[in-house]
Amino acid sequence: MPLISRKQKTAVGLDIGSYSIKLVEMRHTNGSYEITNVGIKKLLPGAIVDGEPMDRDAVVSAIREVFEETGVINRNVVSAICGRSVIVKKIRLDEMDEDLAREVITVEAEQYVPFEREELSVDFEILRRGLPENTMEVLLVAAKKDRVISHVELLRDADLVPAVIDVDAFAVQNAFELNYEYEEDKVYALIDIGLSATNIGIVSNGLPLFNRDIQFGGQTFIEGMQRKLGITSEEARAALEGIPGAKPDEVLRAIETVGEELCTAIERSFSYLRSSGDAERVDRIYLSGGGSLISGLRSLIAEKLGIEVELANPLRNIEFREEILGADPVSIGPSLMVAIGLATRQGS
Ligand SMILES: Nc1ncnc2c1ncn2[C@@H]1O[C@H](COP(=O)(O)OP(=O)(O)OP(=O)(O)O)[C@@H](O)[C@H]1O
Ligand SMILES: [Mg+2]
Repeated sequence: MPLISRKQKTAVGLDIGSYSIKLVEMRHTNGSYEITNVGIKKLLPGAIVDGEPMDRDAVVSAIREVFEETGVINRNVVSAICGRSVIVKKIRLDEMDEDLAREVITVEAEQYVPFEREELSVDFEILRRGLPENTMEVLLVAAKKDRVISHVELLRDADLVPAVIDVDAFAVQNAFELNYEYEEDKVYALIDIGLSATNIGIVSNGLPLFNRDIQFGGQTFIEGMQRKLGITSEEARAALEGIPGAKPDEVLRAIETVGEELCTAIERSFSYLRSSGDAERVDRIYLSGGGSLISGLRSLIAEKLGIEVELANPLRNIEFREEILGADPVSIGPSLMVAIGLATRQGS
């Protein structure tokens, strides 16, 4: 028996979504990841609207409850602010070292985003150096300071310590990289469909090419079904999430009609990508988020866009005991994409 047992440090990813709060605790040892705890707490409709907590008390209580129910004691969390409060943009700068780049970006950030410098919280990552005309490509991440502050306050109210504040889209990419290999020059679209938004991220050779958050998600399906079928939002939500095989034809048709609009929105992003010259085509789509489980959506996107579509499995390279998930991995995995990606940012 070892004389000293070193306490294992865990990493906690907390995805505060508008449909549900997801908590993933992971341990990172010898290059492999193991999930030690998973908790999901649904929120009442309206508690978070467009990524902003409307009912703060309800959100804080739900966060506290998910910690209590899972028994996770580590209060240092990695969480994210959603894409709508952040601007992620690729910019070109003259070749320079990282410290100077930080100064330049802090001063010049307001050129690239529609906010005043004083309101901005800025971060960046140098993506590629040695480009023509002695330039480099930089990923600029600019968030409105008040959004970041109110997010930190929300976490503190729930007795948490914000270790890292990330962006949903980056978490999706991290979860992807943990579980899949980039094939050289292949272009992947990582599409995370939540309740209120869908994030479209396009990646290739380990680099982000494009990112966009669209206001289209499960909520759009629920509203479309309400209109087409003359039912309440509760009924529409239940029908959307009901067992695929047991859905009446008119429900499937309503889902398909809304799904076609989503395909159009995705296609618009892809054509922007083509016109910007960043990529000719997308080779494969990976869907995640609870919305990826909507009946028939995967095959509809594949058919409409003529691209191979897979459900992302963020648990593919991760060890876990099945009872920890509280549901079967296939049905719960896609919803945990962001939380898993967040947890990879810490504890290594
Ligand atoms: N089994 C299922 N079948 C169909 N739809 C589902 C299923 N499970 C969840 N959903 C839908 O997935 C959506 C929620 O997904 P998710 O949990 O990823 O959202 P969120 O991250 O909380 O929201 P957001 O990121 O938009 O703030 C809801 O619209 C819900 O109706
Ligand atoms: Mg989400």
